Amino acid sequence: MSKNRLNRLLLPLFILALLLLLSLSSACTEREKDSLLQFLSGLSQDGGLGASWQNGTDCCTWEGITCNGKRRISEVSLPSRGLEGHISPSLGGLHGMLRLNLSGNTLTGGLPVELMSSRSIVSLDVSFNHLSGGLQELPSSTPHQPLQVLNISSNFFTGVFPSATWEKTRNLVAVNASNNSFSGWIPSSFCIRSPDMAMLDLSYNQFSGYINPGLGKCSALRVLTAGHNNITGTLPDELFNATSLEYLSLSNNQLEGTLDAANIIKLRNLAFLDLAANGFISGKVPDSIG
Ligand SMILES: *[C@@H]1O[C@H](CO)[C@@H](O)[C@H](O)[C@H]1NC(C)=O
Ligand SMILES: *[C@@H]1O[C@H](CO)[C@@H](O)[C@H](O)[C@H]1NC(C)=O
Ligand SMILES: *[C@@H]1O[C@H](CO)[C@@H](O)[C@H](O)[C@H]1NC(C)=O
Ligand SMILES: *[C@@H]1O[C@H](CO)[C@@H](O)[C@H](O)[C@H]1NC(C)=O
Ligand SMILES: *[C@@H]1O[C@H](CO)[C@@H](O)[C@H](O)[C@H]1NC(C)=O
Ligand SMILES: *[C@@H]1O[C@H](CO)[C@@H](O)[C@H](O)[C@H]1NC(C)=O
Ligand SMILES: *[C@@H]1O[C@H](CO)[C@@H](O)[C@H](O)[C@H]1NC(C)=O
Repeated sequence: MSKNRLNRLLLPLFILALLLLLSLSSACTEREKDSLLQFLSGLSQDGGLGASWQNGTDCCTWEGITCNGKRRISEVSLPSRGLEGHISPSLGGLHGMLRLNLSGNTLTGGLPVELMSSRSIVSLDVSFNHLSGGLQELPSSTPHQPLQVLNISSNFFTGVFPSATWEKTRNLVAVNASNNSFSGWIPSSFCIRSPDMAMLDLSYNQFSGYINPGLGKCSALRVLTAGHNNITGTLPDELFNATSLEYLSLSNNQLEGTLDAANIIKLRNLAFLDLAANGFISGKVPDSIG
């Protein structure tokens, strides 16, 4: 056999072996596949996902799934897929998942604490669903969370905002909890533990009590909206320490007192201010605004 013919024979074999090796190492793990299949079986309406999510196949190729270079699931993105049913806690078993987006479906039941306490999730979006119940307090043993973006807006969540949870989430940048039925006080722990918090939307809920002076520690906060709640008392002087504020809306509450021009001027980045439909008895927005 000439050297050339040998090469011609070996090359295809080599390529075949390489492909085999690649296909073996490129499959997602059985455990991660099981987590997804458990999630699928918790759905009463899967919006056609079942056709793509077949047990016999590599789950890195399934619709809505992204894997990282190590063939671990890094993202589950299924917004507006017509999903109905509940969110299986099994998704908390995807230890490499950075982003979960289930926005705009008709999911019911609670938000599994396994997702809130995930050691990997950076962005969690379950907005525009029919989720209900309270947010569970994370156990005090929970280590710090990498969570940066939490969007639980436009659901049917109730109960108080668990305050210890926000002490575990030091990387939070944006929280949107608007359009739910949360009640109780706005937690003070937000920015004390999450110095990077830039956006906090708590509007259209049933929050009550005073505005916590602790919000003044939100040095990176650009957007604060808590309109359409039942917040009482005066605006604490400390709030005006949050000088990054660009957008502040506290309309439709029971706030009262005077609006101090000297305070408002401190918010030198403020471009939008809405305090309408409150009980403010005096105070005038200084001309320096706008
Ligand atoms: C998927 O297939 C594996 C291996 O054949 C099996 O052990 C497992 O039970 C299957 N899972 C489901 C949800 O059918
Ligand atoms: C989730 O998906 C929707 C629809 O594509 C998108 O608008 C939204 O920004 C996504 N959420 C996050 C946190 O990226
Ligand atoms: C949910 O909120 C996050 C943070 O503000 C945002 O990036 C995302 O686009 C929102 N999702 C939808 C569906 O608007
Ligand atoms: C929060 O989410 C709601 C929809 O649920 C949206 O209308 C609102 O603009 C969001 N807030 C911010 C500050 O992006
Ligand atoms: C509030 O949430 C409900 C339920 O998800 C939704 O139908 C409605 O459009 C939301 N309203 C706004 C203003 O986002
Ligand atoms: C708002 O608070 C006032 C005073 O605490 C209370 O009487 C009222 O029932 C509350 N309204 C709502 C809608 O929760
Ligand atoms: C925050 O505001 C209060 C009251 O206006 C003031 O006494 C305090 O020094 C401020 N703290 C910081 C860190 O700016």
